Amino acid sequence: MSFSLTMGVYMKIAIDGPAGSGKSTIAKLLSKKLKFEYIDTGALYRAITYIINKEKIDIDNKKKITDIINSSVFKFNENKLYLNGFCIEKEIRKNIISQNVSEIAAQPFIRILLNKIIKSTSDNSENIIIDGRDIGTVVLPDADLKIYLDASSSVRALRRYLELIEKKEPVDLNKLEEEIIIRDYLDINRKADPLKKADDAIIIVTDDLNIRQVVDKIYNLLNNDL
Ligand code: DC
Repeated sequence: MSFSLTMGVYMKIAIDGPAGSGKSTIAKLLSKKLKFEYIDTGALYRAITYIINKEKIDIDNKKKITDIINSSVFKFNENKLYLNGFCIEKEIRKNIISQNVSEIAAQPFIRILLNKIIKSTSDNSENIIIDGRDIGTVVLPDADLKIYLDASSSVRALRRYLELIEKKEPVDLNKLEEEIIIRDYLDINRKADPLKKADDAIIIVTDDLNIRQVVDKIYNLLNNDL
């Protein structure tokens, strides 16, 4: 199939992969370069985790969580997530949210609610890039291009470590790698929409690639016949 970024031909791009594989950074840069819309679905799962933690809601209280999700407005503005008009980007990137989000993302009812929001945004967009864990397999099984980004747990932990240090959040590198391995395990082994490479996804291992090289690789894929 040829993409070649032809005028008037709309595209949906799915990018999946484990925590710290570079999905969001790559997807942001690519969406800017291509002038495509972008949804960071991990940010939505983080937002629900933030709300549940903040309001101290029991995970078994499905009705309350459902009501909150249905009555909330989630909006991305310049790649930052706003909840009911308030930017929650800083809060959702904290390590405490990273530690709790897998449990929330494993809840089938939450996935159904969020996938509805994600799918309707995608259906109303012409060109879009969506990143997550189940985009190529569940959310956009018909995506025009599916990428699966991967990297070793040590490289991914180091990336997260540098990010958190920059934000002045003290963390231990070894502990961070342990947390990433646990999160991988939970994301891969959950029953509902687990982290999985779609059969037709193209794998890019990013251990030895910098951000620019990964963006260029995907951009080149789009400009060549696959
Ligand atoms: O990409 P991230 O680290 O911000 O994602 C946060 C969590 O959300 C991660 O543990 C897996 C979960 N997630 C998911 O289950 N499905 C998605 N489509 C996106 C993220």
